[in-house]
Amino acid sequence: MKYVILNHKMNLTYEEIIDYVDKLKELKLTNINLITCPSSIYLSMFKDLNVACQNVSSFEKGSYTGELAAYQLKSLGIKYSLVGHSERRQYFNEDNLIVNKKIINLLKNDIKPILCIGETLEAKKLKKTGAVLIKQLRQALKDVSVDDLKKVIIAYEPVWSIGTGVIPSPNEIDEVVDYIKDTIYRTYNLEIPVLYGGSINDENISLLEKCKNIEGYLIGGASLDINKITNIINQI
Ligand code: PGA
Repeated sequence: MKYVILNHKMNLTYEEIIDYVDKLKELKLTNINLITCPSSIYLSMFKDLNVACQNVSSFEKGSYTGELAAYQLKSLGIKYSLVGHSERRQYFNEDNLIVNKKIINLLKNDIKPILCIGETLEAKKLKKTGAVLIKQLRQALKDVSVDDLKKVIIAYEPVWSIGTGVIPSPNEIDEVVDYIKDTIYRTYNLEIPVLYGGSINDENISLLEKCKNIEGYLIGGASLDINKITNIINQI
């Protein structure tokens, strides 16, 4: 069973989402856990489907205009939320400390965090990928118990691959994902799912399927087009 997570980011109108949901319901899924992350105003339109939030507040509740609390997501029956996406880190100054607070809030409300981590091109060139990932993992997962960690999914998304059309080779992905899994295993004696994300489309998915150690994919741009999703799913 592989995860396929569709991240709409800030895209699609109400009419487009109505059409999208209808088509999504027609997809034949075998061995795929398909989870959509629409803009939060559309979350309730995915009632009979697997849905995730793109973001959650680091605060628990109260006077924080514009924020969405984990307990509110829980009340809607939402089971997953992205956290620490590189666009949140880049445009909204989210650091690992904030990401950690979000993870703690999600876990308190029984929502599975999909923790996004990844290195910038600069860090990659300086051969600092491992150091960046370790820091992101250590700080984002601070004070998370081993039992709670079982609910966490990691999405390895190299920042230089998101929205650029450039993807790492399957060998490169395997190497980094092994490193992430080893780090978690050595620290917590636990294996948790790791996904790959960054410029996935229906033309490169067959190459990415050569990766040996990933439990699925996080798809941005291509997730807006149901035909592309169908083509991707048919190749997994
Ligand atoms: P992309 O986005 O597929 O458009 O590169 C992936 C993501 O941001 O999760």
